[in-house]
Amino acid sequence: MSLVLVDHPLAQHYLTHLRDENTQPDRFRRFAKHLTTLLVVEATRQVKTRAETVNTPIQPTSGPVLANSLAAVPILRAGLAMLEPVLDLFPDVAVGYIGLERDEETAQARRYYAKLPQLDGRYTLCLDPMLATGGSAAQAIHFLKAAGAQQIAMVSVIAAPEGVEFLSNAHPDVPIFVAGYDERLNDKKYIVPGLGDFGDRLYGTL
Ligand code: PRP
Ligand code: URA
Repeated sequence: MSLVLVDHPLAQHYLTHLRDENTQPDRFRRFAKHLTTLLVVEATRQVKTRAETVNTPIQPTSGPVLANSLAAVPILRAGLAMLEPVLDLFPDVAVGYIGLERDEETAQARRYYAKLPQLDGRYTLCLDPMLATGGSAAQAIHFLKAAGAQQIAMVSVIAAPEGVEFLSNAHPDVPIFVAGYDERLNDKKYIVPGLGDFGDRLYGTL
């Protein structure tokens, strides 16, 4: 299992405000964006660089620039909250979308949409804020691999131990980056303490 807990104080500050039930959708979206920036910086620590020579006002010098091409795939709908910060950090990123929805009774994810670019050779970030049972993430990563992705990172806001175990067993090659590693799932398969339904809090559909 490769789980990276981003424990930077600023990340933990945003996470606490996301958890707060009094945080309204406009601030929720802002905190989600800032927290994703911190998560993505960590999740892309391994991207490859190449040396490039530039001229400073003083003299030529060589320094690293990004060599990897990147892809980002948010899982609709909640994962959309995490896309804008990736676009801000990596303007050349290729973007795909996967629509998955959990059945409220069974908690099984059902795919209702997919549009993916060619992912071969691209370091691919799978974006979904909540890793609960892990079913949605495992299914999404299966589609990413079918579209050619060989190097994938899962970026989530909060994970439950059950979801991390399920995803790690299904896709042991995929590291998971989170800001919160919570206690457990409740009987409705919601993360405890969690933050409730991320998509509903993001879009005011409670
Ligand atoms: C949420 C969340 C994940 C999924 C996690 O989506 O955004 O996609 O549940 O649960 P899992 O790990 O048990 O599969 P939801 O189905 O509520 O859809 P939404 O994003 O459209 O609100
Ligand atoms: N999806 C959410 O939005 N929240 C949870 O706690 C679990 C799944």
